[in-house]
Amino acid sequence: MSLYGMLQGKGPSGFGYASTAEEVTAGRDLAGQTWIVTGSNSGLGEETVRVLCLRGARVLSLARSEDKARAAAPAGADVVPVACELSEPASVRAAVARIREVGGPIAGVVANAGIMALPEVQRKHGVELQLFTNHVGHFLLVVPLLDQLAPGARVVMLSSSAHNGTWPEGIRLDDLGAEREYAPWRAYGQSKLANLLFARELARRLDEGRTANAVHPGVIATNLTRHMNAAARFAWTYLGPPLFLKSVPEGAATQCWAAVHPDAGALRGRYLADCNVAQPLPAGEDDALAAALWTKTEEIVARLG
Ligand SMILES: NC(=O)c1ccc[n+]([C@@H]2O[C@H](COP(=O)([O-])OP(=O)(O)OC[C@H]3O[C@@H](n4cnc5c(N)ncnc54)[C@H](OP(=O)(O)O)[C@@H]3O)[C@@H](O)[C@H]2O)c1
Repeated sequence: MSLYGMLQGKGPSGFGYASTAEEVTAGRDLAGQTWIVTGSNSGLGEETVRVLCLRGARVLSLARSEDKARAAAPAGADVVPVACELSEPASVRAAVARIREVGGPIAGVVANAGIMALPEVQRKHGVELQLFTNHVGHFLLVVPLLDQLAPGARVVMLSSSAHNGTWPEGIRLDDLGAEREYAPWRAYGQSKLANLLFARELARRLDEGRTANAVHPGVIATNLTRHMNAAARFAWTYLGPPLFLKSVPEGAATQCWAAVHPDAGALRGRYLADCNVAQPLPAGEDDALAAALWTKTEEIVARLG
């Protein structure tokens, strides 16, 4: 626990900044449940898989390659490794097919994989790569699996407080390829706002007690920093953790709370942080923008063929 974490209290949920994924899932029996976790081979995703398995779940563990997912699986856990490269539609579609083949109602999805702050603009299928990987890739994965979700299933999208740093207009629907302008943190913020708005619109569309929410996990020293410059990476990795960053078990707590805690089951399309409801940017509560993003993403997906 960091120095800052020691000074933080708990919120209305009874959990807070320094709660861990194990603490927020204590007493949950997930035997017989099947969960999907993306980005399962590193950081928060790896911890989420470990803790869901610890509580008895079977986890369909999605990483860029089956080998990566297999290598990260906790020993003896009920893990099915699945290859899913989110920036390659063919790979995502193969993952969907594999998940259908494995079968069983899905208790929930933790859409955790992500990339951050690419220094130079990169694009896939005409879409800026952070937006494609973090948002379009998860859209391609989750939407075709909606009919597999069990009643009461939960979809948890990894957003970030970095959504506050998006473009002034929120989502640049007329420039998703960042042809007009590119800035690494603006583009990351936009992709995380897209994760938030996807959860909001998805929650509106789901029924039978199924829900979707978005999470800011905190700030945690993980491999997410790989595209930062050496000085920032050094500070984030070595100076931050003892002073003010969350540990990985603390960082994975909010997504695990959103996924399996009974109190989170009634939340629909909310933004969560420190295992409690939080306040996003106004654009994060803009239902018209959420609907417009959904429509635009459907158009992009249709274009992919
Ligand atoms: N760490 C933080 O401070 C922080 C703060 C706010 C939000 N978040 C969010 O939390 C989530 C988890 O991040 P983390 O901190 O655990 O980072 P991480 O350790 O870098 O893990 C990210 C995971 O996403 C996977 N991934 C990246 N691109 C992918 C792609 N194209 N296809 C499939 N998988 C891909 C990575 O796979 P490889 O290892 O193969 O690259 C890795 O498994 C992210 O969505 C991030 O935006 C993190």
